[in-house]
Amino acid sequence: MDGHWWQSGVLYQIYPRSFQDSNGDGVGDLNGIRQRLDYLTQLGINAAWLSPIFLSPMRDFGYDIADHCAIDPVFGTLADFDLLLKDMHSRGIKLILDFVPNHTSNEHPWFRESRSSRVNPKRDWYIWRDAASDGAPPNNWLGAFGGSAWEWDETTGQFYYHAFLKEQPDLNWRNPEVRAAMHDVLRFWLERGVDGFRVDALWHLMKDEHFRDNPPNPAFRPEQAGLERLLQLRSADQPEIYDVVAELRRVLDAYPDRLLIGEIYLPIERLVTYYGKDLSGAHLPFNFQLLNTAWGAQQIANIVAEYESALPPGGWPNWVLGNHDRPRIATRVGGAQARVAAMLLLTLRGTPTLYYGDELGFEQAVVPPEAVQDPWEKQEPGLGLGRDPCRTPMSWDRSLNAGFSPGRPWLPPASDCLRRNVETLASDPNSILNLYRRLLAFRARSNALRMGDYTAVSAENGVFIFERRAKSERLAIALNLTHEPRRVNLPKAFERILISTLVAKPVASVTGEVNLRPDEGIILAAGRESDRRDAETASQ
Ligand code: GLC
Repeated sequence: MDGHWWQSGVLYQIYPRSFQDSNGDGVGDLNGIRQRLDYLTQLGINAAWLSPIFLSPMRDFGYDIADHCAIDPVFGTLADFDLLLKDMHSRGIKLILDFVPNHTSNEHPWFRESRSSRVNPKRDWYIWRDAASDGAPPNNWLGAFGGSAWEWDETTGQFYYHAFLKEQPDLNWRNPEVRAAMHDVLRFWLERGVDGFRVDALWHLMKDEHFRDNPPNPAFRPEQAGLERLLQLRSADQPEIYDVVAELRRVLDAYPDRLLIGEIYLPIERLVTYYGKDLSGAHLPFNFQLLNTAWGAQQIANIVAEYESALPPGGWPNWVLGNHDRPRIATRVGGAQARVAAMLLLTLRGTPTLYYGDELGFEQAVVPPEAVQDPWEKQEPGLGLGRDPCRTPMSWDRSLNAGFSPGRPWLPPASDCLRRNVETLASDPNSILNLYRRLLAFRARSNALRMGDYTAVSAENGVFIFERRAKSERLAIALNLTHEPRRVNLPKAFERILISTLVAKPVASVTGEVNLRPDEGIILAAGRESDRRDAETASQ
């Protein structure tokens, strides 16, 4: 009953710069990841998504690509990549690459050609427009990291469009040659055996063909990113996008069982349209609801209900708790609730994506001004938008730089890395790391969690309760989203606590009423004696 690997499995995002450095230059690399595959196996994840590893001037740390089919030397070589892929596959771990189709680096040969003259054959591969009559940019669109999204180019006397940095010119996806070239990029990696792609900024690929202005955002607050001054109604998410996504999907479908994930920051009702007509689009349009929701039982129950009911028939759900662009969950909800968040992520219906370091309870790191790397922080300083604090090096042990690198790390290691590292947490049965391992191991054996139904039970008094069920296996999950103890009533059938977020060995038996500790989440099993034994075996 296990469906596709990407339905029953758990995805793990690695930010390669920060996972493991193998050559002492202070930046993580492919050989470093390969050295840590035991860790991934022990953790119990099924697929790793690597943020971009391709040739790049690193203005946006790899999201500005100068050659989509070459590995940046800072990460290693194509041979290193092939070896990593082979070793991951021999362990049964899938590899997902980051595909960045919306823009390239301004140093990409395509853009160099495009900007060289108005009649260059690649001119139309990017988005060039004349200035307005007063010399201003062609319209009011804003760049995601601040300022206008248009950059004047002296050589040819036109503006080019960049949704992100000016060093990241947008490709013109209305041009069939661009589409064909980018499909070839996908095939290059598919032929090498990669298992899928996370598509960067997918909702940006198609812009209004008439380049009409975006309307102002009446709810804008000065502490927000400059981009939020306008509603991005014309600059992204246009109806023509669905054909583009379906074409990407068809490229993947020529290979067995590959996965297409879309990065899409849109409200739920828009997000789910990216599954495409008759599910011809992304397998998993990334669901970022948990990154934004107020952290309360009612609020979380509401977004789950809204999301579940918005899914198209057959559309497979997914949940994301953290990524390299958003504040760490442990800082957002507090260290105590980070454990509840772990249980939530790994018990909801659908594919979970876990961000490296969250399994150690990583907090937003303090990055002093002189150590700032992120271009967003540099362009819009002081608003707390910078992404360095969630990208700091993984902490492995108590040695120099927590075992990340013998050299000077590109971002400072977390200040608590002597305490919060894999080695230390692995030896403490009650640590968040061991909680993650228990949850992942249980999930791997529980049909109800991997593929079962979801039913909301209640969200009262700060406790969110739901059931997961598959055939005879029936589980209840009760999450105390408050910092106080709570007594809750559960259907009598749920007699046994399998996992608690707080203690490695919870008191097992309950009868209808359960006392939850502050910030505690539990998984309970119900059912006939024999089913119960199955569930228990699975939890060990
Ligand atoms: C996506 C990436 C982000 C990057 C941006 C531009 O949002 O996740 O890190 O800066 O695209 O490529």
